[in-house]
Amino acid sequence: MASSSSVLQCLVTLTCLVLVTQTAVPQSYRSIKTILLNRASESKLPEQCLPSCEGHTADHVRDPSRCDQYWICLPNGTLYEQPHVCPAGWIVNIDKLVCEPEIEGSEQCNIPDPECDPSIPKVCFHKDTCPDRDEGIFPYADEDDCSVYHACHFADVDIKCDPATPYFNGQECVDDANQCCKCQAVCDLDWTFIPDPFDCHSYYLCQDLNGSIAGGKPYIATDEEKFTCPEGEAFDASTGLCSKSAEPCDTKCGGNSFTSAYTTSATTMIFTPIVSH
Ligand SMILES: *[C@@H]1O[C@H](CO)[C@@H](O)[C@H](O)[C@H]1NC(C)=O
Ligand SMILES: *[C@@H]1O[C@H](CO)[C@@H](O)[C@H](O)[C@H]1NC(C)=O
Repeated sequence: MASSSSVLQCLVTLTCLVLVTQTAVPQSYRSIKTILLNRASESKLPEQCLPSCEGHTADHVRDPSRCDQYWICLPNGTLYEQPHVCPAGWIVNIDKLVCEPEIEGSEQCNIPDPECDPSIPKVCFHKDTCPDRDEGIFPYADEDDCSVYHACHFADVDIKCDPATPYFNGQECVDDANQCCKCQAVCDLDWTFIPDPFDCHSYYLCQDLNGSIAGGKPYIATDEEKFTCPEGEAFDASTGLCSKSAEPCDTKCGGNSFTSAYTTSATTMIFTPIVSH
């Protein structure tokens, strides 16, 4: 009698807990998730990447992040949807807002803001590099699970990718495993050695060639910064050095790191036929 009533009470309590959880906590969770999902489905550039037409009716306007293109404000005060891109090697003359050949010694082209260039892969944020801002929602990668991401915005929110697109690439969930955040070689300190996620015999020396880190922006390491360990050695991420003891090494991404060893045409295998007597 007593036990069945406590079961009943427990059930009531559980129901209450479930109700409380559903009504109170997930309210913000749901709205953050909606914002993130909407953002992922938008391919538009962030607002700060577009110039404003205020005071520039029927005029040319500077691009806030690039010096090789400018924009046009229509007579009705709206921005024409496409920028005017200068020919290769030409940059915008800031005073006249026309394209001119880049002259040595003239104002250098700005570093295109990676946030504003859809062709530049976006750097994955990790919790400890969540931007130090109060406003906004910043999705960041899970250290262990590619199919989960989190959002830093007041509270932490965990979001799981759909099974059809199980890999979080720093911006959205995609179906390409090699875009997972753990496959990104991110330079966030100058003059450091970082592993190559696609080849454990290679590494990158972050050199901040374009001044991105100095400008407060981690970037994805480039081919110019890639080096290979000496024959028979592998890169050891814990020491930042190539060593023999790091072999056999473990390549994180790409899936077929060992196939290449068996497909080199330089190796000729000689088969000795077994002759039965
Ligand atoms: C301004 O003109 C462009 C081009 O005709 C048009 O697409 C746009 O909707 C107009 N905007 C407004 C606010 O009238
Ligand atoms: C520097 O910028 C150039 C031109 O945008 C780009 O091709 C190159 O990969 C960048 N290098 C680094 C290290 O980011």
